[in-house]
Amino acid sequence: DKGNHRHFMQKEIYEQPEVIGHTLGSFVDMTTGRTRVPNGQSLDFKDIKRMAISACGTGYLAGLTGRYYFERHARIACDIDVASEFRYRESPLGDVDLALFVSQSGETADTLASLRYAKSMGLKTASVVNVQESTIARESDVVLPTLAGPEIGVASTKAFTCQLMALAALSIRAGVDRGVISPDEELAMTRALAEGPRMVAEAFKLEGQIEILARELATYRHALYLGRGLSYPLALEGALKLKEISYIHAEGYAAGELKHGPIALIDETMPVIVVAPHDRMFEKTVSNMQEVAARGGRIILITDEKGARAGAVSAMETLILPDMPEILTPIAFAVPLQMLAYHTAVHMGTDVDQPRNLAKSVTVE
Ligand code: F6R
Repeated sequence: DKGNHRHFMQKEIYEQPEVIGHTLGSFVDMTTGRTRVPNGQSLDFKDIKRMAISACGTGYLAGLTGRYYFERHARIACDIDVASEFRYRESPLGDVDLALFVSQSGETADTLASLRYAKSMGLKTASVVNVQESTIARESDVVLPTLAGPEIGVASTKAFTCQLMALAALSIRAGVDRGVISPDEELAMTRALAEGPRMVAEAFKLEGQIEILARELATYRHALYLGRGLSYPLALEGALKLKEISYIHAEGYAAGELKHGPIALIDETMPVIVVAPHDRMFEKTVSNMQEVAARGGRIILITDEKGARAGAVSAMETLILPDMPEILTPIAFAVPLQMLAYHTAVHMGTDVDQPRNLAKSVTVE
């Protein structure tokens, strides 16, 4: 049931404040602010120095964000691969202490095969999954649930932000176990995560502006998404969402790679969506944006209030979120990217919930 929404995708976008809150609740005791591994399972990160993450599609991009979280918050080195490569790469996994998988459905063939490979190599396995009765959940040593509820729209939205929430919270738990995060820092960080539902709700206020922008985006044939640091996986996710449902060719790049190729594409027919909260990477991203502007590229800047004040660039349009703790930016900034893809597809008249050639659950290679 879509309720008063036109598509499941839109309904699921709007469910995010609630479901990311639920998901956080299984990783954090909301009365004490302390992190925990859900459902009393045992997973101690104390001796985990290296992790291998693998997943497909949007799950992979959640995992890629997870890498930034785990490396920063817990000083755990993370290898990451798409599951279709990991399963065949025959990595010796020498010093890897934990294999981590991310899957909404829990049935994706390549992710399942990767899990089985890790187990065959004698590794401990943990999986962030949305369907608790799934094969991946059953076969993993530790199940890290996302509580997104059933996701019907083929393009993943709420499952993604719940995966980010789960990984963010778990990285704090890992940091505490490893003595990287103090009890006071733990409290401050979980308090920050608890602001997630409100920040996502704030992002909804941009919908009117995004709808108008989407009308223009729908007239282009290509789009480029740029981001750095925590916003790099988001740039990839924004491009994935747009191409999946609007069929506009979109590419996501680490902003620092601009000079190494994609800048050749920039002219007035190339909209460039820049994801840049005012974080430690902001100035660097702004200088990339200036390079785009100098070549006539059409810029849509997604930033926060601080970034909007600081980023002196003639952006075609600026979408402004509230200032927020850095750990939350992937979750909140995902929302305008989802809405931009959604409204662009609606304008183009594509089948938003069931895009051509795509299946919700990819159970064959
Ligand atoms: C993108 C999308 C897909 C899935 C991918 C993995 O919007 O939905 O890229 O993320 O097929 O699926 P799961 O997470 O079920 O393993």
